[in-house]
Amino acid sequence: MRIISPGDSVSTFGDLEAFALDVLVGLSEMNKRLPSKYLYDAEGSRLFTEITRLKEYYPTQCEKETLEKNKDRIVSQIGDEPFNLIEFGSGDGQKTSLLLDHFLKMDLDFQYVPIDISRSAMIELCDELDRRFPLIQVEAIVSEYFSGIKWLNNRSERKNLVLFLGSNIGNFSHAEARVFLRNLWSCLNSGDLVLIGFDLKKDIELLLRAYNDCEGVTAKFNLNMLARINRELGGQFDLSKFRHFGTYDVFSGAMESYLVSLEKQEVFIEEIGRSFSFGPWEPIHVEYSYKYLQSDIDNLARETGFVVREHLHDSKKYFIDSIWEVKKSENNTSE
Ligand code: AVJ
Repeated sequence: MRIISPGDSVSTFGDLEAFALDVLVGLSEMNKRLPSKYLYDAEGSRLFTEITRLKEYYPTQCEKETLEKNKDRIVSQIGDEPFNLIEFGSGDGQKTSLLLDHFLKMDLDFQYVPIDISRSAMIELCDELDRRFPLIQVEAIVSEYFSGIKWLNNRSERKNLVLFLGSNIGNFSHAEARVFLRNLWSCLNSGDLVLIGFDLKKDIELLLRAYNDCEGVTAKFNLNMLARINRELGGQFDLSKFRHFGTYDVFSGAMESYLVSLEKQEVFIEEIGRSFSFGPWEPIHVEYSYKYLQSDIDNLARETGFVVREHLHDSKKYFIDSIWEVKKSENNTSE
């Protein structure tokens, strides 16, 4: 078990300055917004785990069922070469454990390589894995996703399988998803595999319930963004003066979350050194969660240089875990 920081992420800004700058830029826009990546501090990650246990939040249940039902199909897609099992954003590692457990039972030759920029998340995950799977080989990389993969690929000849589960890809617009996947393609070798979780378009009532649970956990999860600004940037948001609003945009096919100001107010943020004004009912956009058709997934794979090996789904067909292969031609690897 090793935790590695390739140290190539030397940026001009510290984490806090980058956060302050993103908040300043986002709240200065005509349509205010805050980047969804800031939802996941320790408290946000805890609340998200709570969301995954809600009866209304079907994606986690469906993906677990999909992986459980298809774990042998996944093994046969991998074949019997040794491989790196790379994972982006493992979260609490619930779904990964299911695969790790099965791969160990099947005696596959692999090392597990989670990649995440949060050192504390990596340490927590490694401790947990150490306890549950003492025999597994883990090399956790603390870095941005792509620099982590490049670092690994320079040191390892093994075939790669990249996991990007949980429909995290849904946070990207279609244009951003294409850029992300093409970048991923560039970092991998021909024949490598990726396994990506996509949430599917479905009855809108079901979607709305999943993002507006009756216990209000999703509301707390989104409001934690403001609480985090208060904690880390000395913000003075009064959380009772904002409400969570989750809605579905039928044109873009995305669930969207907003925090709506309930009255006219000024909010001072110490680290930024200024106040921001909110009108009554003015929204802040905090998250997109794009939903896909199977044909959207096929197109996305083709457009970014992958070949779909197999779509795996749950019994209700609410979710797809799609296995893709990287295709690069012999004479023109950079295409
Ligand atoms: C972790 C991004 C996949 O979009 O469904 C859950 C986050 N937001 N409920 C999603 C989320 C509100 C989740 N992802």
